[in-house]
Amino acid sequence: MQFYIDEANPAEIEKLYKLGIFAGVTTNPSILSRVAQAERVAVNKIVRRIIDILEGSEGLLFVQLVAQSYEQMLHEGREIVDLSPTRIVVKIPCTLDGIRAMAEFAKQAVPTCATAIFNLSQVAICCRVGASYVAPYVNRMQEVGIPVSVVGEMQRYIERSGANTRLIAASFTNIKQVEEVMTLGIYGISLHPQLYDKMLANPLTTTAVSRFAEDWNELKEVRV
Ligand code: G3P
Repeated sequence: MQFYIDEANPAEIEKLYKLGIFAGVTTNPSILSRVAQAERVAVNKIVRRIIDILEGSEGLLFVQLVAQSYEQMLHEGREIVDLSPTRIVVKIPCTLDGIRAMAEFAKQAVPTCATAIFNLSQVAICCRVGASYVAPYVNRMQEVGIPVSVVGEMQRYIERSGANTRLIAASFTNIKQVEEVMTLGIYGISLHPQLYDKMLANPLTTTAVSRFAEDWNELKEVRV
């Protein structure tokens, strides 16, 4: 399974990306605007800083357009891709105009990620128009009573239909959701850095490592 960092703060991305386990970074207008405001830096500059962090790897950067009409989406999507044509995936919300834009970008071989996905029909349509990725929002689904198992149905649909579309689950608030989704055979997940911190810092592992060190030190005392 592929892991992506769902964050726009370059310092936080850089710290995690060094682990070498990530396939890229996903952003959205909310997190990009939060970081741009906090750092008082233009959004494009932040995007360029993230691209710099990805240099030397094959990592992708997912950047979402904010235009809402088809024509504006085509224009904005092209501007986004031009920031780094080999690295950028254009995230497009699964609206009627968004679906048209995904179809047009597919013709131009521009990779897209259909985002804000909540049901199987949306997945089927986005596969049909050639979206490269679909991103269901797990926590936001659960908040309105949609079970996580629906993500598994989405994945099965993609496999059975033979679509060349990959599912990256996004929007998580806890490890239980993450681990439930991990069992569904999906292509990837995108998580906020705080969740990776929690996944990587298991207190039982820390205790086990301390005990190994203590036992080893005792052996050295005997040898001396
Ligand atoms: O990239 C989309 C995803 O970040 C949404 O996550 O946590 O705002 O529901 P969240």
